[in-house]
Amino acid sequence: MLHHILRTGGVVFTLFVTYLAKPGSSLFSYHPTLMTVAFTGLMTEAIFMFSKYGLAGGRLHSAKITAHWLVLMLAAVAHGVGYVTIYYNKELNSKPHYTSWHGSLGLSTSVLFWLQLSVGIFVRYPKLLKSVMQGRTLKAIHGLFGMMTFGAAMITVALGLWSNWFQDKVPKLTLYSGVGLHILLMFIVCKKFLMKYAWEIL
Ligand code: HEM
Repeated sequence: MLHHILRTGGVVFTLFVTYLAKPGSSLFSYHPTLMTVAFTGLMTEAIFMFSKYGLAGGRLHSAKITAHWLVLMLAAVAHGVGYVTIYYNKELNSKPHYTSWHGSLGLSTSVLFWLQLSVGIFVRYPKLLKSVMQGRTLKAIHGLFGMMTFGAAMITVALGLWSNWFQDKVPKLTLYSGVGLHILLMFIVCKKFLMKYAWEIL
């Protein structure tokens, strides 16, 4: 039930940020829009793909895996364009890079995200690492780093909401609801991981 509420909250929030940012109105406008689409929207759906309430609920496990990485590919495209726009926007305005907590954590999240995507190939084709690691261990490590990447992304979005850009546009209640939603999403994904793999890691 809580899963449902939080996922729906994620979709509503993504639409809300898109409405606020009005993509196309400026180069900056693409950054919050695409980053929210990538993480609050698509990465959340990719993680919940394996739950029975997910987008591929009731399908074969192999179909869920395919849907998981296809949705993550879309998230990668949204993230890549969202990153380039903020970087280029700063260049155009001759502003220094990575000067805020949001910007610095955003860079770390982005590195983690792309590493996780690349390493995901080995989870898709575990035979590649057969001589080094068992499939089950590989999956647990993938889950651990996935949880860390998602957690870092949720904190990055929450810090993005703390920016003057967002605070100038919304009342305090909306700000706290947005931050709260991302913190809850982070905790529910941590719980999901711990329930599935904790005994494997400990
Ligand atoms: C609703 C979501 C978001 C909003 C409202 C937002 C807002 C902003 C704002 C206002 C800036 C310029 C000021 C600064 O440098 O801190 C910025 C920069 C930045 N953002 Fe975001 N952001 C969001 C999501 C994200 C996400 C999810 C990531 C990464 C995963 C991210 C990565 C970055 C980076 C790396 C910079 C600094 C770029 C540079 O200094 O060249 N942002 N963001």
